[in-house]
Amino acid sequence: MNFRILGTGMCVPQKIITNDDMATIVDTNDEWIRQRVGIAQRHVCTTESAADLAVGAAQSALENAGVRAEELDMILSATVSGDNISPSIACMVQSRIGATCPAYEINAACAAFIFLLETAAGYFARGKAKKILIIGAERLSGITDYSDRGTCVIFGDGAGAAVLGEGDGYRDCVLHVTGGDDVLHIPRSVGASPFYQNEGFPPYIRMKGQETFRYAVSSITSDVNELLTRNNLTKDDIAFVVPHQANIRIIEFASRKLGIPMDKFVVNIDRYGNTSSASIPIALDELARSGRLKQGDNIILTAFGAGLASAACLIKW
Ligand code: COA
Repeated sequence: MNFRILGTGMCVPQKIITNDDMATIVDTNDEWIRQRVGIAQRHVCTTESAADLAVGAAQSALENAGVRAEELDMILSATVSGDNISPSIACMVQSRIGATCPAYEINAACAAFIFLLETAAGYFARGKAKKILIIGAERLSGITDYSDRGTCVIFGDGAGAAVLGEGDGYRDCVLHVTGGDDVLHIPRSVGASPFYQNEGFPPYIRMKGQETFRYAVSSITSDVNELLTRNNLTKDDIAFVVPHQANIRIIEFASRKLGIPMDKFVVNIDRYGNTSSASIPIALDELARSGRLKQGDNIILTAFGAGLASAACLIKW
């Protein structure tokens, strides 16, 4: 058995930080951020935890799908900025929404939502699940270095979710991991062991911007082309591409290289910034609720991030 997406949901914290607000924290300005990255504002947590956002997105997706929490057979979450090492966000959501199913978490950074879809596909294929909730939830503000203007203007907090049920919507997926742990890196807090002899790095996002940019453009292009070729589709057969929202210029370069016009790319980076594993499900939720998606449309999700990892999948809506 395969699956289709029954419903989507999202949740972002209330507080909005504009580029002008960021300019009071680091030496930056609205024009630079809009032109170089394409962001106008981002939402950041004040009182909300990552689990709070995940619960909000999960409840919205369940309602949208018309599915009750008790019907779920599995909850899978992804994060790089959860509240705890353990329990996972999936476990916290499970108890807070009143589900009784197993729940666990994966880490594939910004590409994780597609890794979650592919993980879920295994349960459907083996007949082990009829309904699965998947969630990408991030409180990236907790791992952002607000003295580094090269990274702190880029990221935002948020969560996105989808409810999956039996059907034939999920058509194909490509997953790739290559080296590059020095390109994009989020060290864990080093701990206070009296035996450690090295200090480690502070637990904030560290990124080589231009190398990440080049990897992003080339991985989107090759992953989408791989999917098209493998499925005997042309770019004209694709109604929408939902890319990871990291930089508007990455999306524009990929659009040009693929020959797929920008109006087929879903873009909301201007309002949310880069929300890592939440970025694709938030964009997908906005697309689904916009009424622009028609039943039977082919859509491609495409993402890249720390690992370095990239992923893309083909869905028939
Ligand atoms: N405001 C103003 N100036 C800034 C700035 C900011 N927020 N951040 C960097 N700059 C400056 C740099 O200090 C540099 O100044 P200099 O020329 O005086 O040294 C100049 O802008 C150019 O820096 P550079 O790093 O070359 O900029 P860029 O055009 O590559 O843009 C990124 C930087 C990070 C926006 C861009 O590289 C990028 O988006 N990379 C991909 C990131 C990504 O996708 N991350 C997530 C992966 S999941």
